[in-house]
Amino acid sequence: MTVPFFAPDVFAGDRDVLIETVRRVATDPAQRFILGDHCARFEEALRADLGAVDVVLCGSGTSAITLVLTAMGIGPGDEVVVPAFGCAPLASTVVNLGAVPVFADVDPWTMVVDPDEVESLVTARTRAIMPAHMFSVMADMPRLRGTAARHGLHLLEDSAVAQGGRLAGRPAGRWGDAGVFSFVQVKTFGTAGEGGAVVTDDPDLGRAVRMLRNHGQDGKTRFLHHRIGHNSRFDEVLAAFQLLRMPGLPGRLERRAQIADYYTARFTPLVEHGVQPPPPGREGRCFYVYALLSDRRDGLRRFLSARGVDSHVYYPQPLPHQPAFAPYAAAGRRWPHAESACARSLAIPVHPHLSDAQVEGIADAVCAFAATAKPTAEPSTEPTAKPSIEPTAEPFTDRKQRT
Ligand SMILES: Cc1ncc(COP(=O)(O)O)c(C=O)c1O
Repeated sequence: MTVPFFAPDVFAGDRDVLIETVRRVATDPAQRFILGDHCARFEEALRADLGAVDVVLCGSGTSAITLVLTAMGIGPGDEVVVPAFGCAPLASTVVNLGAVPVFADVDPWTMVVDPDEVESLVTARTRAIMPAHMFSVMADMPRLRGTAARHGLHLLEDSAVAQGGRLAGRPAGRWGDAGVFSFVQVKTFGTAGEGGAVVTDDPDLGRAVRMLRNHGQDGKTRFLHHRIGHNSRFDEVLAAFQLLRMPGLPGRLERRAQIADYYTARFTPLVEHGVQPPPPGREGRCFYVYALLSDRRDGLRRFLSARGVDSHVYYPQPLPHQPAFAPYAAAGRRWPHAESACARSLAIPVHPHLSDAQVEGIADAVCAFAATAKPTAEPSTEPTAKPSIEPTAEPFTDRKQRT
């Protein structure tokens, strides 16, 4: 048995729908392939679902961040506080605008940016804070909102991996001046290609992003360029496809969450054997990825691989250690928790196409690995919240909600 990390058959059930969507858009007499009615309807569906003032589709999650930062007026001389652990766009988008990413360390367990660190890094040059939700936990948005408000900073919520997550009743993407989503194939609401979205309650920000995504035009008068913009438009076929897939999203997210609940119940007793699951529960969670922490991470990865379970190391280096971003990192500074996350985290499959037997097999393999370790009195990463789920030996069955 080989269990792939990402579902290779992610659109298998929708293949006919996708082909029919291509046919429909391709044969429409309007011959509109970007930013047409399907995009407008998809924007409206997302906007209504999130209860936001505006949603603007764009070319990718990365360019969604770029458009928002540009609309916020971020540029040379400005600082943007970003997590030290995360994906390259968190820093590259800032650098590409001539601003400086200031790297904040993360929580050792949840791996999301530490709000105290963010607060301590605010200077007179800071213009924005850009937290990112991680593996599998949303950033502490209430505290980060407080920091942004106290210092008069923009708050950009990178929700690229967290679509469908909720914290204190508020959806991911709705906590900042703007939130961004990514629709790249593997994301929770991935599509058959690339795409992104900006979510905001600020109509001026929405308008600016809408202009910036299409060369600074206002959508009414062609070839009138109000601002220097980008080409970050959205595809009609993909918008139509996403509209058709949208009703199935809650079911797919629920399936991910059920798998994560099961893993966490199985893995919580492994802490004393050096394998730590994410904090339990559904509050403020997003299960794009399910990441374990282990001092023997590479051994765990080999052990799983030998049993046919694919896994992923996100990310092997903290952002400020990357050659591209090291010149922007404070000299002599360390990010010990980001370094630890890079050395210790391992993501295991959590996609909704896993069968119950595969989920149980993955959990069994992780437990078998942990059994090869001697128990320790203390976990090497002290949990910052006490797990509340009792371990269970119940099989992962009768929970089918695959779509
Ligand atoms: C946290 C985060 N932000 C931004 C992005 C960028 O999204 P995209 O790949 O659509 O450009 C990603 C993509 O992996 C991501 O994980």
